[in-house]
Amino acid sequence: MLSQFERYPLTFGPTPIEHLPRLTAHLGGDVEIYAKRDDCNSGLAYGGNKLRKLEYIVPDAIASGADTLVSIGGVQSNHTRMVAAVAAKIGMKCRVIQEAWVPHEDAVYDRVGNIMLTRIMGAESQLVDEGFDIGIRDSWKQAIEDVKAKGGKPYAIPAGASVHKFGGLGYVGFAEEVRRQEAEMGLHFDYIVVCTVTGSTHAGMLVGFSADGRARNVIGIDASCTPAQTKAQVLEIARNTAALVGAGEIVADDVVLKEDYAYPVYGVPSKETVEAIRLAARLEAMITDPVYEGKSMQGMIDLVRKGFFPKGSKVLYAHLGGAPALNGYSYTFRNG
Ligand SMILES: Cc1ncc(COP(=O)(O)O)c(C=O)c1O
Repeated sequence: MLSQFERYPLTFGPTPIEHLPRLTAHLGGDVEIYAKRDDCNSGLAYGGNKLRKLEYIVPDAIASGADTLVSIGGVQSNHTRMVAAVAAKIGMKCRVIQEAWVPHEDAVYDRVGNIMLTRIMGAESQLVDEGFDIGIRDSWKQAIEDVKAKGGKPYAIPAGASVHKFGGLGYVGFAEEVRRQEAEMGLHFDYIVVCTVTGSTHAGMLVGFSADGRARNVIGIDASCTPAQTKAQVLEIARNTAALVGAGEIVADDVVLKEDYAYPVYGVPSKETVEAIRLAARLEAMITDPVYEGKSMQGMIDLVRKGFFPKGSKVLYAHLGGAPALNGYSYTFRNG
């Protein structure tokens, strides 16, 4: 589906699929759990899901003649870390807006983890006092204008690299990669669990897995806590991506989004999220974060316990990265 699109390699290649036997056994053994380790996909600043997306966006950025990548996220945004990394790697400047999306309790929240890495890589990071919203923001538009006013040539990358014409392509590629790995491994995944916020990861998977009838087997776990907006954005990106790659139509019912795990708000882990993070760490040494993967881990665990996945199912947990944000949650984990 992707051969007609230019791809700028930023990742190591196909990511490993790992069986999680201790988590499987702990949850009763009726459902086999595997993880696809997109958190280990690159040597660029700890990697993660944004690099798959950016591989299809960078050729357009280079072709545009831009000299500055301009993007936006929260203070502990993984996405802005990845845009800063890519800018460094391809020799562009980087300007990122970091909004106050998360109420936090750590004194050094805006000094450590993702934002520290972003600054170390030379990006100009600007803190803006605006709350969480996955839509297009004025602060980002102003940054784009400001780069122009100073004589630069900006290339605009929206939050999560999602609402971009090529934002969904990377995770179409994920589905194609999983199919090849299934053939090599001689198995078939019945469900794919994915954390969903700005939507293009889930949307790309929907399009990619629609090719073998598994669109509705992609189980999105909402971590935005604004699920109606997230669901609408997934559908829009999936439809645009399907049209772009020439896949069949995606309809609203194809977007399966579980809304029960994002509480209390975006970026703040519940007691259950923290327990899920500890469980995956203690059983599998698999590190998940309080903003994204901890919530999808919590969701997957709860769905297994509730019997959502029929006995004998094989479930693939998409690990999308995000561990650097843990540094901003030292108070939560002060006792482990
Ligand atoms: C670690 C991690 N997991 C999941 C997501 C959600 O992906 P998306 O924004 O494409 O829905 C993000 C980014 O928002 C992320 O950084």
